[in-house]
Amino acid sequence: MPAIVLVGAQWGDEGKGKATDLLGSGVDYVVKFNGGNNAGHTVVIEQHGTREKYALHLLPSGILRPTCTPVIGNGVVIDLGVLFDELDGLAARGVDTSRLLVSANAHLIPPYNTTLDKVTERFLGKRKIGTTGRGIGPTYADKMSRVGIRVQDLYDETILRQKVEAALVVKNQMLAKIYNTRGADVDEVVAELLSYAARLAPMVADVSLVLSEALDREETVLFEGGQATLLDVDHGTYPFVTSSNAISAGACTGSGMPPTRIDSVVAILKAYTTRVGEGPFPTELQGDSGEFLRKTGAEYGTTTGRPRRCGWMDTVIGRYATRINGVTDFVITKLDVLTGLDTVPVCVAYDVRGVRHDHMPVNQTDIHHAIPIYEHLGGWWEDITACRTFDELPANARAYVLRVEELIGARVSAIGVGPGRDEIIERYPLDPKAANDA
Ligand code: GDP
Ligand code: IMO
Ligand code: MG
Repeated sequence: MPAIVLVGAQWGDEGKGKATDLLGSGVDYVVKFNGGNNAGHTVVIEQHGTREKYALHLLPSGILRPTCTPVIGNGVVIDLGVLFDELDGLAARGVDTSRLLVSANAHLIPPYNTTLDKVTERFLGKRKIGTTGRGIGPTYADKMSRVGIRVQDLYDETILRQKVEAALVVKNQMLAKIYNTRGADVDEVVAELLSYAARLAPMVADVSLVLSEALDREETVLFEGGQATLLDVDHGTYPFVTSSNAISAGACTGSGMPPTRIDSVVAILKAYTTRVGEGPFPTELQGDSGEFLRKTGAEYGTTTGRPRRCGWMDTVIGRYATRINGVTDFVITKLDVLTGLDTVPVCVAYDVRGVRHDHMPVNQTDIHHAIPIYEHLGGWWEDITACRTFDELPANARAYVLRVEELIGARVSAIGVGPGRDEIIERYPLDPKAANDA
């Protein structure tokens, strides 16, 4: 019965991959429902006595659990070259990827959209979004403009050619006349896409039907969000967002699962805040404190390697995430990174031109002008990476979690104390099967 949605609460890179992997031991299907290879989810696993690190981009993190069927939903945009490279990379490391299912309705990222993404950013100059350059925006734009190419189009060459031709009528004009760059050749694009068709064929599925039947059989389905609440195209800090719905509701449209079947929503909240790319960030730190978080938390992008912008915990964002996603459980990650501070600032509200805002301002300009109002909590110096129960944490670390929990308005069910699979404190069972047995 349980269907769980897992999303990022901030601007991404909260540790969704690790949390998904953790839950993966108790779930039967892990479904990616939005985004594409703009995501970078890192999972660190103890294997054969060494720490093995996996960076997943297009595949759901559940692929690392042998009992779990990974699924790519219709809401995802797929670069087929990247998909097969990632599958080959995992297979070379002994990961069984044979159960992967891919929605027939998912859209494909054709090579011309990756070009368009990069040249558009270059032309925007100072006004750029700071995208990952993976063709994500142009591919979602094509989907909405009804000139997108879908997985199922690979299996009707006539239709595929017609669609590529239709898309390129406009795209090639843009590439040549606006961006002064070479257009794409219909034959080449069609040939490239078709070259993947046979290998993809056995994975293509009616994802909505598969998941619906799985839930009927009382199996557990976990929806793993890419990006995060404030990168959501509708509810994030637009236009500095990605082009998909990264909030919990996106799990429904991005997989064909109705809202009435969702049982719980787990949001991942980093113990501080990071952001990659442009856009407002009220608690951003420019000086030594920002560098402390970046260095201690190893805050460099999994996908692009860019240094992440860093700042303190912002509970205005946490409260917003609770409201927008309907969060039932939070996982606070990277609490270990805050070890060694005299005091730990937590943003509780914003001051916008002299007016206090307890909720996320609806006006984007206000977010740009928001000055954080901080509460300064006591720090701790003890190494917490070996703690496995809440009571083992130093008193000030416990007080930090409890105060944040109060401010964000939903329970903190787990706390990350290190990147490893086992470096986690579970206060309340997140694993639905364990929860049912308890
Ligand atoms: P995602 O995109 O949300 O999956 O997050 P990323 O994988 O991009 O970034 C999170 C980083 O933090 C990864 O390098 C993880 O290995 C690491 N990580 C996750 N949880 C913890 C934690 O509790 N403590 C520490 N120190 N690192 C963590
Ligand atoms: P995960 O799943 C952090 C950001 C980009 C840019 C904006 C738009 O690992 O948390 P896009 O290429 O999507 O058009 O870029 O969104 N962005 C992310 N930032 N983590 C991510 O994914 C991101 N995916 C996109 O940096 O600001
Ligand atoms: Mg990431």
